[in-house]
Amino acid sequence: MCGIVGYVGPRDSEGILIAGLARLEYRGYDSAGVAVIDGSGGLGLRKRAGKLKVLRDDLAEHPLAGGTTGIGHTRWATHGGPTDANAHPHLADDDKLAVIHNGIIENFSELKTDLLASGATFRSETDTEVAAVLLGREYRANGGDLVEAFRATVARLEGAFTLLAVHEDHPGLVVGARRNSPLVIGLGEGENFLGSDVAAFVEHTRKALAIGQDEIVAITPGGVEVTDFHGDAVTVEPFEVTWDAAAAEKGGWSSFMAKEVSEEPEAVANTIRGRIRDGEVAIPELDGLDELFTGLSRIIVIACGTAAYAGMVGMYALEQWARVPVDVELAHEFRYRDPVIGPDTLVVSISQSGETMDTLMAVKYARERGARTLSICNTQGATIPRESDAIIYTHAGPEVAVASTKAFVAQITALYLLALHVGRVRGALGATEAAQQVLELEEVPEKIRWVLETQQSRIEEFAGWMADTRSVLFLGRHVGYPIALEGALKLKEISYIHAEGFAAGELKHGPIALIEPGQPVFVLVPSPRESPLLHAKVVSNIQEIQARGARVIVVAEEGDAAVLPFADEVLRIPLAAPLFEPLLAVVPLHIFAMGLATAKGLDVDQPRNLAKSVTVE
Ligand code: F6R
Repeated sequence: MCGIVGYVGPRDSEGILIAGLARLEYRGYDSAGVAVIDGSGGLGLRKRAGKLKVLRDDLAEHPLAGGTTGIGHTRWATHGGPTDANAHPHLADDDKLAVIHNGIIENFSELKTDLLASGATFRSETDTEVAAVLLGREYRANGGDLVEAFRATVARLEGAFTLLAVHEDHPGLVVGARRNSPLVIGLGEGENFLGSDVAAFVEHTRKALAIGQDEIVAITPGGVEVTDFHGDAVTVEPFEVTWDAAAAEKGGWSSFMAKEVSEEPEAVANTIRGRIRDGEVAIPELDGLDELFTGLSRIIVIACGTAAYAGMVGMYALEQWARVPVDVELAHEFRYRDPVIGPDTLVVSISQSGETMDTLMAVKYARERGARTLSICNTQGATIPRESDAIIYTHAGPEVAVASTKAFVAQITALYLLALHVGRVRGALGATEAAQQVLELEEVPEKIRWVLETQQSRIEEFAGWMADTRSVLFLGRHVGYPIALEGALKLKEISYIHAEGFAAGELKHGPIALIEPGQPVFVLVPSPRESPLLHAKVVSNIQEIQARGARVIVVAEEGDAAVLPFADEVLRIPLAAPLFEPLLAVVPLHIFAMGLATAKGLDVDQPRNLAKSVTVE
């Protein structure tokens, strides 16, 4: 939530900040603002409620005086509504100091009461302004040392924060601090950058440094200094950003979501690439870590939203191939229920952003309780992998649309690689069986391509006819169940239509009462050749709902004729072994959600009330 960018160097900072914010806008789009130290040492501020475009248009009409040091912010509102006054940056120290913030300062109301009592005034309802006023006071008290002022200020803050500040007495300096909120450094030639993630600066440099928890960073054009909250120097780990800037551009696509759905085959292929050797799964990141898997008696997968549904799909593979009991839990529920975990538990977290606060806190909790942790993550330099014993990166590339699509198929792919690896390490899976599954996995990208090429335009067409639909249900069994949940989530999220996913067998235990004439129901049908028993059960479920007047849309394997008498629409996927069907069956559902939202004239990339990276609990 909230995107943060900072720049210092020889170039005019305003354009760099706005371009960085455009790449971070998926983190929040309630308001945006920039503060720039101009050539004559004055501080220029502009902030506007609404999407970044509002700020950009305002700046085009009334430009700020140029300046080579600045900070920018795009907001997802927490404390105080999305107004100009609540937009960041917030000013303090007689308007010479500008501060931006991502996170929530939990003790802001006590701090504000103290500050008000001592004569401070406030112009916004935000927790951020409290931090800004405190910082300004500390700065005055210590005679003008911004880094020391940060140190004194963060000692008084509780909660999660990334704070960046510029002061007009210090052109050429941006100072930042982080606790449980993201911040990475981009290293340029004679210029340096700060960003909530690498997307903020990848256009300018691929050299980056990951900042740890409870650290303060000061960037100047010629250097970077990182210290901990006590003032001790810390070593920071450099890394090379593998994303290229073009990957985060919309190109000729109508939306990032459309581009990202079209990239689902590559997301799977790139996640597999470099991890198969001689037909066997060989994950370089897990070299030397067999002990993580040999001694475990249980796996708990934790994640939120779409990532949790990927985890549910992964559970089937982990149990089948690695023969380890697996539970999947929503991260925000996990740590509040005193789970029974210990050194023999492997907690696998899944997060596209690597910053989801609920997931991060659950990982930390698991570690404190002695569990081992492995993270599946799509974003380099993110916090969750840094807090884990092992990492498997999904190589989906930057995902900009708020609704997760290509990252979902990449997460399932990474879980399957993990399941095959754990199965082999523990001796639960024979070499021949493992090699067969690897072949199946390698065929998935081509099969997804087939779905996109042959089904997309039809799905978009009937999604268009359904623009007035008020409710859609999704049914699946076995691995089809999490896909039903994913189909429903995607539709709610971007088309604002009521949608629910059910395990098909659960229908008769209650949800069937929802079926009335004309109710659209998507049904994910397992392969008749691969899963005849399940197939027969799902076909019965279809008959039950069709008999009650439902409008049935099935996603079924090519050539499955048994569904034809009972379906109003049939969407086809190629034949695949049961565990690989979810990677194909989800594609029509992603296309459908996107097609329906587009038909309603909605912004599929930035749905209302949401932000891509949920860094508050
Ligand atoms: C849905 C969606 C969210 C995320 C969830 C976790 O389309 O994008 O449900 O999957 O907020 O986010 P990450 O994967 O970044 O932890």
